Amino acid sequence: MVGQAGQAGQVGQVGIIGGGLMGSGITEVCARAGLDTVVVEVDDTASAAAERRVRDSLGRAAKRGKLTEEQVAETLGRVTFTTDLGALADRDLVVEAASEDEEVKLELFRTVGALLEKADALLTSNTSSIPIVKLGAVSGRPDRVMGVHFFNPAPVMQLVELIPSLTTSTETLQRMQGFVADQLGKQPIEATDRAGFVVNSLLVPYLLSAIRMYEAGYASAADIDKGMVLGCGHPMGPLALSDLIGLDTVRAIGISMYQEFKEPLYSPPPLLDRMVDAGLLGKKSGQGFYRHDG
Ligand code: 3HC
Repeated sequence: MVGQAGQAGQVGQVGIIGGGLMGSGITEVCARAGLDTVVVEVDDTASAAAERRVRDSLGRAAKRGKLTEEQVAETLGRVTFTTDLGALADRDLVVEAASEDEEVKLELFRTVGALLEKADALLTSNTSSIPIVKLGAVSGRPDRVMGVHFFNPAPVMQLVELIPSLTTSTETLQRMQGFVADQLGKQPIEATDRAGFVVNSLLVPYLLSAIRMYEAGYASAADIDKGMVLGCGHPMGPLALSDLIGLDTVRAIGISMYQEFKEPLYSPPPLLDRMVDAGLLGKKSGQGFYRHDG
């Protein structure tokens, strides 16, 4: 456990909106850091799936000897799964990790911004590309809104991008820097409020180029990936990584970046569009460029 709340400005109670791939990972990170965590999902089915994701991931950590069964139970004991946004009212910090849809996020920021009870409560988004300033503008608390972008798998990846908008206060940025570094034990970097921030601006054109290469028949998926793993020392190749991130997410980020910069390299290739239309979303759906069983 990295650090619990206590000192002034520290976060004690966290709310996570969305328990999908990223939301459940962020939930695990917060709960393992000792924080009281509420996860809000859209319905009971999604809520049960979120709980299962967190439980399974903690179970795997226990199997690898990283956690004892007692620690798994304690960690799960810190998390409440609900479908009621009202359960976020008393939180010090809310991290929105809903689907990458601007309308959905704007509605959530409007609603949650109005129901937070603490004057200094922070409202953040794990968006990878939607303008933070727009989320702040509808929240009624633009100075306490910013981006906090985790990487998949969140329990493993050390980086967190922090994205203050034009309206975020210095105090908010400083509190989030302390939260990420001291309470979660992760490494923050700061990025400006532009679609893609630092990492996706570099990563997404690379992933899309690999998909174009595969689409054009340059090489097999396995050989493209092997090329980057063995030739460049990457932990996984670009097509396997796209499957891990989710092809719908890669596409959505590419579209947001293309809309902002009109740079052709950010535009999703037709194969990616067709795969998403077909429900071939990668690891989360069981099939993408590769088959994922279990
Ligand atoms: N949840 C929790 N822990 C996980 C995990 C998961 N989903 N997947 C792997 N791990 C842990 C394992 O338990 C293991 O922990 P240990 O070393 O403490 O025992 C460790 O990670 C290594 O796992 P494995 O041995 O099973 O597998 P690998 O060594 O092949 O590592 C990987 C898997 C960590 C996913 C590695 O391949 C990797 O780093 N890949 C690149 C991931 C990446 O680039 N992520 C960023 C995506 S971009 C993004 O998220 C931004 C978004 O906006 C698109």
